[in-house]
Amino acid sequence: MNPSYAIVAARSRNHVIGRGSDIPWQVKGEQALFKKITDGGCLVMGRKTFESIGRPLPGRLTLIVTRQLDYRRDGCEVFDSIDTAMAFAASSARPVFVVGGGELYAAMIQDAHWVHLTTLDIDVSGDVYFPTFPMNHFDLVETTHFESNINYIYQRFVNRDQEPLCRTKTE
Ligand SMILES: NC(=O)c1ccc[n+]([C@@H]2O[C@H](COP(=O)([O-])OP(=O)(O)OC[C@H]3O[C@@H](n4cnc5c(N)ncnc54)[C@H](OP(=O)(O)O)[C@@H]3O)[C@@H](O)[C@H]2O)c1
Repeated sequence: MNPSYAIVAARSRNHVIGRGSDIPWQVKGEQALFKKITDGGCLVMGRKTFESIGRPLPGRLTLIVTRQLDYRRDGCEVFDSIDTAMAFAASSARPVFVVGGGELYAAMIQDAHWVHLTTLDIDVSGDVYFPTFPMNHFDLVETTHFESNINYIYQRFVNRDQEPLCRTKTE
């Protein structure tokens, strides 16, 4: 059984999260918010997202999901399925964050316990999107407005259908 986990994502107003392998914006403060949310946790990410970041992130465990059986990266754990990654994440006793990209979000959002969603106050062109969000299953429990070079809103949602299976700092 999967551990309780959170989705962490930033999207534009028109729901873009990526263009090619990149995130098509730079917003002052937004990376610090990502670090604050995920610090000390276990990050589960698709192989394409890992390659766009290019390195394991300090202070967190990096778990990469790929169907390439020979894929290895220093400082990271690699899994050939989401389920095996989540089982490892559960055994780490750290809070678990699914941090992208589009393919991982689409597979994982329905059963997420928490969603940390940043929405930037811009429309951008791109080709990777945040999936349709099943809002009727989630309660909005926090909204914070940030002013920056691009203004953004951070919102935290809790899945009202699920009891958490382990403690995380997102409670
Ligand atoms: N704005 C944000 O918050 C945010 C966050 C993260 C990423 N991004 C952006 O999102 C984009 C990347 O997203 P993406 O959807 O293209 O790719 P992705 O979800 O990062 O990675 C997809 C890859 O993960 C592996 N994978 C996916 N599901 C799997 C499964 N069930 N079992 C085993 N392996 C699986 C496959 O790797 P293999 O092909 O190796 O088999 C697949 O090609 C980039 O533009 C990135 O910058 C944005």
